[in-house]
Amino acid sequence: MKHILNAKQFNKVDVEKILNSVPKMKEICETNKERPLEGKIVACVFFEPSTRTRLSFETAALRLGAQVISAEDASHNSSSHKGETIEDTTRTLSCYADIIVMRHHIVGAAEMAAKVATKSIVNAGDGANQHPSQGLLDLYTIQKEHGKLSGLSIAFVGDVLNSRTIHSLIPLLVLYGGNKFYFISPKELMIDSEFRNYLVDNKVDFEEINELDGVLPQVDVLYMTRVQKERFSNLADYEKVKDSFLLKKEHVEKLKSDAIIMHPLPRVNEIEPEIDQDSRAAYFRQAQNGLYVRMALLVHTLE
Ligand code: CP
Repeated sequence: MKHILNAKQFNKVDVEKILNSVPKMKEICETNKERPLEGKIVACVFFEPSTRTRLSFETAALRLGAQVISAEDASHNSSSHKGETIEDTTRTLSCYADIIVMRHHIVGAAEMAAKVATKSIVNAGDGANQHPSQGLLDLYTIQKEHGKLSGLSIAFVGDVLNSRTIHSLIPLLVLYGGNKFYFISPKELMIDSEFRNYLVDNKVDFEEINELDGVLPQVDVLYMTRVQKERFSNLADYEKVKDSFLLKKEHVEKLKSDAIIMHPLPRVNEIEPEIDQDSRAAYFRQAQNGLYVRMALLVHTLE
């Protein structure tokens, strides 16, 4: 039994096996002839809102021939609302499904579930901590768009403190080495000391800065993030920083012709909609890649 809890659990062999199987997953979608997970049941249990992660995992399971049981808005619509613990919910789901895809607002929820699960847990996001399937699909997107995973300059912009997608992508990129990272945020949303220590311990080349314009001509990947209102306990603190880094057409004009703009989505106002027409805007291609990468991850989980 395999759990997918944290991007740091992957080695390069695992990552490349997953990424290399993406063309096969695409073929399964296009031909609809193979059903490698026929007879399996995937439970998607989401205690936090989601569009891409839940629906792409469900689509992935269905495309692979599995069946899906689902609890969207599980904080209200599951027995968690009556006070059931994550552990008891997990023990119960283990009686029904072969894979449990779980999103929860509590950091460490997936680990708590994995401790009692008798079936595979896939962490679909636990608070501001980890979102490993997003890390893998982001990695795949960079490889597909740039043809390589090292020797790149990558700027992460916005709420870098609370971004589980950044926390998940960086350890995967660190496997490849030779990349330079810029973390661009208001001072209130800079990376925390634990993540900074991880970067230092792994001899990662990074800079923390508070302005965007200077790095735009150098970066190969501009990774935008949403300032996450749901992570603030005080609304006034959110209001103060919510519009800190808004990407406009004049910013995009400064990017290299082969740079790409990524965003895990959803976006609020941090990327001007006119930018969507620019071929460098990769965020909807990124969301499409998520389906194939999640198919590959479900197959990997049950191997
Ligand atoms: N990127 C991401 O996790 O999107 P959703 O919140 O819509 O699942």
